[in-house]
Amino acid sequence: MKRILVWDVPTRVFHWTLAACFALAWLSSESDVWLAHHVFLGYAMLGLVGFRVLWGFVGPHYARFSSFRFSPKEGLAYFREVLAGRAARHIGHNPAGSQAIYLLLALVLLVGISGIFTLGGEEQHGVAAGWLGLDTGRVFKKLHEASATFMLLVVAGHVAGVLLESLLHKENLARSMLTGFKLASDGAPTAKPHRAVAALLVAALLASGVAWFVYAPQQPTELRTAVAFVGPALANNARWRDECGSCHLEFHPSLLPARSWTQLLAQQDQHFGADLGLDGATQAALLDYAVANAAETHATEAAYKIDASIPAKLTPLRITQTPYWVKKHHEITNADWDLPWIKSQTNCGACHLDALAGSFEDAAMKIPRSAPGAR
Ligand code: HEC
Ligand code: HEC
Repeated sequence: MKRILVWDVPTRVFHWTLAACFALAWLSSESDVWLAHHVFLGYAMLGLVGFRVLWGFVGPHYARFSSFRFSPKEGLAYFREVLAGRAARHIGHNPAGSQAIYLLLALVLLVGISGIFTLGGEEQHGVAAGWLGLDTGRVFKKLHEASATFMLLVVAGHVAGVLLESLLHKENLARSMLTGFKLASDGAPTAKPHRAVAALLVAALLASGVAWFVYAPQQPTELRTAVAFVGPALANNARWRDECGSCHLEFHPSLLPARSWTQLLAQQDQHFGADLGLDGATQAALLDYAVANAAETHATEAAYKIDASIPAKLTPLRITQTPYWVKKHHEITNADWDLPWIKSQTNCGACHLDALAGSFEDAAMKIPRSAPGAR
């Protein structure tokens, strides 16, 4: 028996970065504040798996799929032998471990692709933005969560298998995946390290990280909680800005349903105590714009949820009275509303940096605890 190189450097880099990305993706899935990180980790995992599949055809002996082409049946048979304590030692992947590898590669694809569709549908972001509605996005979200949970179980099974196998053959398999070396009898094929390929892989990961977090479109610097995405641009109208933006923020039409805008504009002479004094043509043009871009168009997650929260028989005249708005803001204290730079609930822009654009991104909101511009 002698010590030979079994796991080349790219395979080891792939293995541990995939594991790290998976762990971080779990941790960052809890809050939308981490969405940009979460999505990056997902793309990175897809890229890593793309590399691994390629490496499975062109890499050295033990990394090639042809060296561990076992059927699920063989995997199960091997697993039984392990339990019975008489499984043969494999230098490369054993038949049961191979099944976990194939399953994990497939699951990364499923989790990743369902994630892209969740992002596109629920948040209207990423490559699939605008491809599907928020309802379909939710179906993908369920699939995304279920497949990620299943993947966690497979990872647990994989780790248990490695422990079991390490005990059975009295060798530390996890350490071999770090060092690359294992004991083998003479004549066993040895792997080449392929350091240059590993360096390229690491460089590609780092470069995409830099591109994503440094050069990707970012929120204004007031907001340092997260890197945000820029979704599809929402409708914007000069007349609406002029007529509706002089007394308060020009509320984006996607924040109320069409019936609310119809009523608000019909009563424009008694607008919360003010007379807007609009002539007939302006009133009609504003109404057309508002109705065409009302909450029912589901242009954003906020529009969708506002629309879904309002009972059909009600016609709220205030965004701040829609059930979704109330639910989202009920934890904000009076002391916060009273802050001199907030003052009113309708001062959306004080806390939502993208209020004018109308997108109300999760990553663009924050209650400012000090006066704007103060350090
Ligand atoms: C002359 C001033 C003025 C103009 C111009 C004006 N509004 Fe208002 N608007 C008000 C006042 C005052 C309120 C009540 C604000 C409050 O309670 O904080 C209000 C409230 C609203 C609200 C309810 C906000 C909420 O959710 O509580 C909506 C919606 C609204 N305006 C839409 C419009 C639209 C659409 C236009 C353009 C057609 C417009 N406003 C133009 C004065 C104005
Ligand atoms: C005092 C600061 C503040 C003001 C003013 C404010 N919001 Fe918010 N808003 C928040 C915070 C904080 C959250 C996040 C609540 C949470 O995490 O559930 C939020 C959440 C939201 C959401 C949910 C976003 C999502 O998709 O998850 C929408 C939509 C929204 N606000 C719209 C508005 C509109 C419209 C106005 C003005 C009429 C407004 N907000 C005024 C602080 C504010």
